[in-house]
Amino acid sequence: MVNKVSIVGAGAVGSALAFHLFSRLSFKEIAVVDVAEGLAKGVSLDIEDTRSFFDSSTQIIGTDDFCAISNSDIVVVTAGVARKDGMSRQDLLKINAKVAKDVSMHIKEHAPSAIVIVVTNPLDLITYIFAKETGFERNRVLGMGSSLDSARLLNILYEACKVSTSCFEAFVFGLHNNDMIVSTDKIRVKGEAVSKFLNKEAIKKIQDKTALRGGEIVSFLKNRSASFAPSFSIFRLIEAIYEDKNEIIPVCALLQGEYGLRNLCVGVPCVINRKGIEKIIEIELTEEEKQKILIAKKEFLQLKDLGL
Ligand code: NAI
Repeated sequence: MVNKVSIVGAGAVGSALAFHLFSRLSFKEIAVVDVAEGLAKGVSLDIEDTRSFFDSSTQIIGTDDFCAISNSDIVVVTAGVARKDGMSRQDLLKINAKVAKDVSMHIKEHAPSAIVIVVTNPLDLITYIFAKETGFERNRVLGMGSSLDSARLLNILYEACKVSTSCFEAFVFGLHNNDMIVSTDKIRVKGEAVSKFLNKEAIKKIQDKTALRGGEIVSFLKNRSASFAPSFSIFRLIEAIYEDKNEIIPVCALLQGEYGLRNLCVGVPCVINRKGIEKIIEIELTEEEKQKILIAKKEFLQLKDLGL
């Protein structure tokens, strides 16, 4: 049973997620926590006022007190700074690594049995910090990134082929940044290779567009990043846990030898159920993908530079 979900960070992504959860699933409690005074409280009261529309009996509370996350089954972390136009990833890492250490400490103290879903960017590195700082078993710390990238790929495929997204089998894995692996090789349209529908040039465009989508959105929004698709991607992950679905979803997981990588977090297809990550699936990679997934090793050197 998932009785309680806590969301740390009541900004754009956290507040949208709180609303999806309140309006679509039933819990004993949703707790929203944010260091910004009054923010989580305001968000929770606003969401609570939709109760009659959904006939919801879920209690939702908002506070700046971390004690509120006590006894959570799931804690989602959207706390930190979002990438703004012109901000370097290293700057973002410095700020959010500090937040991650702080929030990990609170989770360890107040919600030691929770499954932690990390959303804060840079996703792969921040997920690793949570895995290390909480010391939780690796099935209980996962990052949401590749499932959002996969949703973006499906939308872009829809635009290119004008075929219902339900006809596609397609997913993205690897790092949650421009080096993500958009495996066009594995895309199927009702069982057929996508190359039957699109030429090489069109497929390459789809790959590039998917990898650059997050940045494209930031370039328009300027001082904030995407929130609708991210919050719904987290919702889908929680739903798979809530319903014990054994669904295969690409999530950022701590690898211990899988894909030739050890002691780092990267997006890979996993079976998701009530335990969090039930199983990491090792799919066959092309030579190009094998090289690309190894970029994660370089990415993780940044943590060493910060003494983490
Ligand atoms: P936002 O700026 O709207 O919200 C962040 C919230 O975190 C703020 O309300 C802030 O007060 C709060 N916060 C900061 N430090 C905190 C702490 N120590 N404890 C509790 N709360 C704290 O940002 P937004 O747009 O909601 O994004 C949140 C994070 O998620 C960012 O790092 C962003 O880059 C990331 N993100 C990740 C995605 C993914 O696919 N993994 C997709 C979209 C966003």
